[in-house]
Amino acid sequence: MTIGFFDSGIGGLTVLAEALRRLPAEDFLYMADTLHVPYGTKSKEDVKSFIHEIVATMVGEGIDALVVACNTATSIAVAELREMYSMPIVGMEPAVKPAVEMNRATGKRVLVFATPLTLQQPKYYALVSRVDDGGIVDSLPLPELVEYCEKLQFDRHIMGDYFRSKLEGYDLDQYGIIVLGCTHYPFYTDILREILPPHIQIVDGNVGTVKRLSALLSRYGIAKRHGTGSVRFMCTGGDPAYIDKMHTALALLRQNDTSGTGVS
Ligand code: SIN
Repeated sequence: MTIGFFDSGIGGLTVLAEALRRLPAEDFLYMADTLHVPYGTKSKEDVKSFIHEIVATMVGEGIDALVVACNTATSIAVAELREMYSMPIVGMEPAVKPAVEMNRATGKRVLVFATPLTLQQPKYYALVSRVDDGGIVDSLPLPELVEYCEKLQFDRHIMGDYFRSKLEGYDLDQYGIIVLGCTHYPFYTDILREILPPHIQIVDGNVGTVKRLSALLSRYGIAKRHGTGSVRFMCTGGDPAYIDKMHTALALLRQNDTSGTGVS
């Protein structure tokens, strides 16, 4: 059994790292759409066709389950993919619901970071209107962040200045939680912690996604409980240097272990 993960680039590795912690016996195929990264600043129609192409390729590689490890791709295409394929398919959901619940007692606001395309989708509006009965959720698009991440730009000064400029004008005392609504963004959790006031929690949806994956694998009777799993990398550009980059980025994540930011 092989579980396919895809993202525009290295962002989905933040979800894969969580899957490797929780489901160590499984075999994974991770595919990055390097020909088209980033998704979040392109048109919905273009991104949809990239997604259908990449999923068809992964099905050709023999995957038995799929994780759409990209918030932008999930918000655009997960429903269609579930209609087209009978395998279990798990998508990402910005952790807005748990964030709202966690903030109820404090009366603080929630700020969601995501790509412009994710924040424009009806799926995102529907989620916020379903869970945000007190009108406490604000959204901030970060169109440049995926490209910084793809360049492995993790310099604390450069990225600290970037986040400070984006947060200019926000009274951070009013906020209790920042939701990372793009799978690339947990690469910046440590840098964000350094620049944000200590009372602000940072959450992502990775743990919740992997728990849903685990439950679905059991329900379909395809969970592998014993043995040592494997990870294979592919990218649409077929560039061996990018495969090396994915190994480096995954090692970085496993060494820094960002699992504390996930909520289910
Ligand atoms: C992107 O490629 O722009 C976005 C990835 C994501 O939303 O997770």
